[in-house]
This record gives sequence, structure tokens and C-alpha cells, in this order.
Amino acid sequence: MKKIALTGIKPTGIPHIGNYIGAIQPALKLAESCEARYFIADYHALNSCKDPQEIRKMTLEIAAAWLACGLDPSQTLVYKQSQVPQTFELLTILLAFTPKGLMNRAHAYKAMLQNNSEAGRDPDDGVNMGLYTYPVLMAADILLFDTDLVPVGNDQFQHVEMAVDIAQSFNYVYGTEAFRLPQPLATQFSKTLLGLDGRKMSKSYGNTIPLFAPEKELRKLIMKIVTNSQTIDEPKDPDSCNVFSIYQSFASPQQVSALRQRYLEGGMGWGHAKQELFEVMNTQIAPLREKYFELISRPNDINEILEEGSRKARIIAQNKINQLRQLVGID
Ligand code: TRP
Repeated sequence: MKKIALTGIKPTGIPHIGNYIGAIQPALKLAESCEARYFIADYHALNSCKDPQEIRKMTLEIAAAWLACGLDPSQTLVYKQSQVPQTFELLTILLAFTPKGLMNRAHAYKAMLQNNSEAGRDPDDGVNMGLYTYPVLMAADILLFDTDLVPVGNDQFQHVEMAVDIAQSFNYVYGTEAFRLPQPLATQFSKTLLGLDGRKMSKSYGNTIPLFAPEKELRKLIMKIVTNSQTIDEPKDPDSCNVFSIYQSFASPQQVSALRQRYLEGGMGWGHAKQELFEVMNTQIAPLREKYFELISRPNDINEILEEGSRKARIIAQNKINQLRQLVGID
């Protein structure tokens, strides 16, 4: 039996190459050996985004991005959370098994309290109940589909562990194994991509390279990557170099060792290294970029894919809900 892998994709618009290397590629690789269920977590976005146009746009863009990168809806169940209403019934069930104290311990919530107190605001300022109970909705997403593995970044591990806690408390009360216990699987751990300024690539640092940046812009951004002031002649250290670190994520092992050689020998300027990086990245990204712009110009086709996946997801979800309703006596 193949393991079931599930992850939620927050609609955040067009991803950057850090997302591609750190999250999209590993999830797509995992989908080759698992029964994968990857969904757009659109109701999660409502907690922080109240602009309907923006939600629609970001949802389409993120779906198109994953499809362009190779997410195959004939192999992987691809759906929209909002189109599987069973999620929200399960949320209601799980709330009855979630200690309030568990939510108080969530890192993301605690960080918000801390920010508020540092800024001299009321501790709960700007915290809505959707944010507060975010881990329970996430548990519903996961437990509804008998998930074994949850590929996520390290920042999400605690949420998956909370899903396990909630599942165990339900299983214990009814003396059942109705909920399969999921396991978080690190995707970002081994490959945190560095950004233009040498810090971790992140939207909040404004140091990203958008995955589908047009060729000219991609080249311009790569030329902006911060390097040291060594001259062309000097030998250079590949392992402390930002350009080289990104290069390793895109180039073949042979290309990597060839460029490493050129660093160590000296006689290669930063402009050359950046040109090499541009070429290897553009070769890999160009076909995805083309596919992305083709997809995004046909939003109805994207919506159709999501609707078809959601239809199948609802069937699986309803079976689970029927089983749970019976266990709790609401049938
Ligand atoms: N919280 C996740 C994130 O911020 C997204 C998400 C929502 C998720 N539901 C999920 C991830 C269920 C894994 C499983 O990236």
C-alpha cells in the first residue's frame, strides 16, 4: 500500500525560486512514490486577506504555478479546500477535542502576542479566532484524508504535531483508530535557498527571485546578487558564495564540479559566475514559465481541474465524515 501524502498550499500568488526548490520540487518528487493529495488552502488565507479580488487572483496563480511545475492532476488529487465542505464539519468535531491551552502554545500565535506586547498594544490585537484556531482547521485538512505524511517547512511541524494530539484524544475517547496519525516530513530542511542579499530567500526580506520572472528580469536580478569585492584573478571560495549556493540547486553534479573548479582556479569574475547561474536557471525555468503564462491565460481550465479534483476529494471526505458521525452518535 502506498503512503498517503498531503499538503496544503497557501494562496500567496506567484512563488519565488526558494519556494520552488524548498517546497514545490520536494512535494512533486514525493508524489511519485506516494498517493498524493495537494490542495489549495484558500480558507486559511481568509484569516489574513479580506480582499476578494486578491484571494481569487492568488488562488489561480498558485494553482497555475504548481501545475506549470509538473503537478499532474491525473496522478495527484488536486483540489480546493473551500470546495470540500466536509473539512468544516470535521473542524467542528475536532474543536470539541482541542484543549484551549493547546492553541495558546502555538508558536505562530505566541509570536503575534509577543509582537503586540513589544509594540505596546493589547496582546490579542489583530488576532481573530480564525488565526487562533488555525491549527485545528489544519488538523481537519490532514485527518480528513487518512494522511500518513505531511511535507511541510519546519515552521509547520508544530501544527502537524497538534493534529496528532487532537487525533489521539479523539481515538482514545472512542477507543478507535478512526484517525490515522500523520507525520511531518521536512521539505525545507536540507535546502534553504539564499536570497539576493545572502540572507534566507523570503518575501518578508524582499530578497527573492520570482520563479516566473521574464528572462530579462531574471538576468537583472541575478546580476544584483551581492558578492564580495575579490578581483577576477583571485581564487574564490565556492562554499561561502551565494551565487554558487543557488547554482547548486539548479545545475547537474557535473556542472557543479566544473564551476567549483573555475572558482578555485581564479581568473573568473563574479559576472561570469552570475552568467553561468543565469543560464542554468533559465534553461530549467523557461519551459515552466511558458507553461505558467499559458495556463494563467485560461483560468477556466484551471478552475475545471480544481473542480474535478474537489469532486473526487468530496467522495473520500464524505466517507470519513459518515464514519465519524457514527462514532460520535450524530447519525
Ligand atoms: N499552514 C500551512 C502553511 O502555512 C498550509 C496548510 C494548511 C497545510 N493546511 C495544511 C499544510 C495541511 C499541510 C497540511 O504553509
